[in-house]
Parts: sequence; C-alpha cells; structure tokens
Amino acid sequence: MIREVLRMGDPRLLAVASRVKDFHSGELKQLLADMRDTMVHLNGAGLAAPQIGVGLRVVIFGVKSNPRYPDVEEVPDTVLINPGLEALSEEVEEGWEGCLSVPGMRGWVPRWKRLRYDGLDEKGTFFQREVEGFHARVVQHECDHLDGILYPMRIRDLTKFGFNEALFPGQDLPRET
Ligand code: NI
Repeated sequence: MIREVLRMGDPRLLAVASRVKDFHSGELKQLLADMRDTMVHLNGAGLAAPQIGVGLRVVIFGVKSNPRYPDVEEVPDTVLINPGLEALSEEVEEGWEGCLSVPGMRGWVPRWKRLRYDGLDEKGTFFQREVEGFHARVVQHECDHLDGILYPMRIRDLTKFGFNEALFPGQDLPRET
C-alpha cells in the first residue's frame, strides 16, 4: 500500500527509531511491501521506515545505472535492518542530495567517502558490505533517518541548499531518497 511520506517539520522525523526484534511476524513483511510501493510511486531511490511514520530501524534503497546520470553509480536493491555503519577512512566527500521528506530541494552534504555497513536482510540474515562514493552516501542518508537526522542538518554551506528549479534550471535530476 502506498503510504504518505512525512515532510520535514513533522516531529516523527526527528525521533530515534527502535531496533526490529521480530522477523517472523507479518508486520515486517507488510512494512517492507508498503515501503517499496511508496518508494516506487514517488520514484525514489531510497526510503526509511520513519519517513512513513514507522519508528523502526528499517531502510530500503537501490539505484539502477542510467545513462542520463553518468555520475550516479549503480546501487543494488537492498533491504537493511538494524544497520551499523563504520567509516573506513577519515575522507569526507561532498555531494548533492535530495530527500522525499524535503521534496523539490537539493543540498550539498558532506559524507564519509568509504564505509563498511552491516545489518540484517528481510529474513533476518546478517550481511555486510564495504562501499564508497554514491552507495556510501545513500546508506548514510537513509541511516540518518533512523536517528532523526535530515540532510539539511548536515549542510555546512547553506548557500548550497535550495529549490531544484532555482539551483538546476531546466535539468532533470537524480532521484530523491
Ligand atoms: Ni531522505
């Protein structure tokens, strides 16, 4: 079912989400189905459960490569539950981000460049990955939602935060997460 995505200003986006404990109830399955439906409906590249008002540590993301955005690397379709993140170097990279909870805007956000993350998939199976660049950025953006952090809170130079049409007139932009 397509759910309403909460927008910045809603206090539920600022809450710290709880860990998932039960992987065998139908609830998690339903939540993931709703998250997928909502993300696809809004043409997003990622979504965190708190964005649809569910305070659980669950995120989904995935980006197919698209010749229109040669700078955007492919990210596999992933379900990540109870994630843990660890930077693999001190290196920070800045890049543009958009968020389904801050629609129509983009901001220039610093993120760890190289990252190891781990967590559980929808069946409760542990996995971990070492990633960098855009994949690392998407994971950090989504996991921030679980701690009540929205990307505008991380922007260092607020002159690089604005509406899509004003920042990038006439351009068609990569998807929001
Ligand atoms: Ni977001």
